Amino acid sequence: MAGTPLVFITGASSGIGQALAARFYRAGYRLALVARRTAEIEAWATASRLDPARYAVYGADVALTDDIVAAGEACVARQGLPDVVIANAGISIGIDTAERSDLDVLARTFAVNNIGLAATFHPFVRGMTQRGSGRLVGIGSVAAIRGLPGHGAYCASKSGVVAYCESLRGELRTSGVRVVTICPGYIDTPLTQGNRYGMPFLMTPDAFAQQAFDTVEAGTSYRVIPWQMGVAAKLLRLLPNALFDRAMSGRGRKKRLGES
Ligand SMILES: NC(=O)c1ccc[n+]([C@@H]2O[C@H](COP(=O)([O-])OP(=O)(O)OC[C@H]3O[C@@H](n4cnc5c(N)ncnc54)[C@H](OP(=O)(O)O)[C@@H]3O)[C@@H](O)[C@H]2O)c1
Repeated sequence: MAGTPLVFITGASSGIGQALAARFYRAGYRLALVARRTAEIEAWATASRLDPARYAVYGADVALTDDIVAAGEACVARQGLPDVVIANAGISIGIDTAERSDLDVLARTFAVNNIGLAATFHPFVRGMTQRGSGRLVGIGSVAAIRGLPGHGAYCASKSGVVAYCESLRGELRTSGVRVVTICPGYIDTPLTQGNRYGMPFLMTPDAFAQQAFDTVEAGTSYRVIPWQMGVAAKLLRLLPNALFDRAMSGRGRKKRLGES
């Protein structure tokens, strides 16, 4: 299998991660697939008739640094140093800062979406820079562009993802390792199903994965998918605060933990 490229994907048990796994597999990659629900990954791999020689599954909670670092190290030992690492695992839960319990949701969101992302990259950075090649892919969100009422944990975490990946990109600029930041718009996955607001330009995970694959292969530094959401995000960024606040005031809020 030497010579066959390898992709390491977190959040591979569902939605975008699973669609990315399918897309990279079709392109000839070997897969290193990570999530807590490893049985879901195994069931999907079996149903998709993946060649067992071309994938391995690692159970890890990305919010537990030792867990995800150990998964990365196990991947290097078992399958080799990946060509592409996609830090995709993420959670999205509404918060109300007046509620004490939502501070724990905030902490959990940062632990998964931010510390988990850096810890996913960590075991590979030194090896990739020594080799002089690789792609580190951070999955952000258009929610990074502006703070949405009721969605402070997620918006803050995703703007953190964008800023963190930009810092890393600068650090690795001359190393041959590319840092790719991808901000999905609205993708039809369990994470968005049940949202109480309109989701313009909603995409299937497979359509998203196709464009994300092309973005990773090209080594593009930053891309919003679909492009229409990129334009909308740029316009939203330009909107003066007073107008933005008024426009958002009637918008439905992301469900808080336990809300149905
Ligand atoms: N769907 C959208 O519209 C959209 C838009 C913008 C950005 N995104 C981002 O895209 C990424 C994937 O989202 P999705 O829509 O595919 O959501 P999803 O279907 O809910 O999948 C989330 C994935 O993350 C994994 N995950 C969550 N917490 C984890 C943890 N502590 N440790 C390890 N894995 C964990 C889950 O696996 P286990 O539960 O098995 O561990 C699951 O595989 C997220 O970063 C999300 O913020 C999504």
